[in-house]
Amino acid sequence: MSSLEELERIREEALVELAAATTTDALEAWEARIVGRKGQITQLARTVGQLPKEERPAFGQRVNEVKQALLQAYEARLDEVRHTEVTAQLAREAIDVTLPGRPVAPGHLHLTTQALRELYDIFALMGFEVYESPDVELEAYNFDLLNIPEYHPARDMWDTFWIEDQGGAESSGRRLLRTHTSPGQIRVMRERYPEPIRVILPGKCYRYEQITVRAEHQFYQLEGLAVGTGITMTDLIGTLQQFARLYYGADREVRVRSSYFPFTEPSVEVDTACILCGGKGCAVCKYTGWLEIAGAGMVHPVVLRNGGYDPEVWSGFAFGFGVERPSMMKYAVPDIRLYYGNDLRFLRQF
Ligand code: PHE
Repeated sequence: MSSLEELERIREEALVELAAATTTDALEAWEARIVGRKGQITQLARTVGQLPKEERPAFGQRVNEVKQALLQAYEARLDEVRHTEVTAQLAREAIDVTLPGRPVAPGHLHLTTQALRELYDIFALMGFEVYESPDVELEAYNFDLLNIPEYHPARDMWDTFWIEDQGGAESSGRRLLRTHTSPGQIRVMRERYPEPIRVILPGKCYRYEQITVRAEHQFYQLEGLAVGTGITMTDLIGTLQQFARLYYGADREVRVRSSYFPFTEPSVEVDTACILCGGKGCAVCKYTGWLEIAGAGMVHPVVLRNGGYDPEVWSGFAFGFGVERPSMMKYAVPDIRLYYGNDLRFLRQF
């Protein structure tokens, strides 16, 4: 076979292979094999020196023609294949913008937030303003100034989360996560003296205790404090009664039982007739017909004095409600752990 014949054979075969290549990878391999630096055409062109002199020009010219033609055919085929590949990719990745979107479920206020806001409304009607005090409290405010000294057995009532000593320069004392909202009483009194006071102090409280169906280690309280001249126990009971009527319903009964807190004297615990059985007795109220909803009492003279108010002139009452528990009673929620368990099936119901 002459070199020219060989050239034509390569050309024809190459064109057939080119037409059969359907991917850019296959095309690039084809290019290297046929027209690349080590390709068949290039190698054949190098044999020109072995030809008789007179045949060399015609052969050289033809090799160049064939190489140019093949390169052109290659570029054209590459365009085609790229176009097909891009078209296929676009089809594969197409987005149907007419499909309806996935619905975004609107959130709503957490049950506890709803309960707090309801309580704010109720106490606003009775002239109480909201006063906020810090979650991280000084030991003195949480205990000592509330008439609970270091050795006092009442400290056992509040198992405490202590804040690690941050080594501050001033010896302001140990810090803790407040175990109740009562330290806010001292803060308001010290800020407001000598004005009369009527505030509620909402906030999260923290206790280092076992979590059960009735107790969480974080929960809300709503403290109340009224300080003035001539405030009596009757004012306290009236306020609690009014609260229960507005929160639970017009004919909800309230009773107070005598109790003990170091920062009130006398102290009471407040019960409401069980909302589930209406006072007849059921499992929730342990068949007593009553449920405890708050601790309360007349502000202890020592506490008044620590707040800057002379107990010979001033008197006051204070109360501390739970927030989750009364709302459990309102909605018949059987387990306090549901409040912060983040189960949307529960939360969506309220
Ligand atoms: N601080 C008390 C508690 O956490 C509740 C309370 C508040 C009692 C105010 C009397 C007066 O149990």
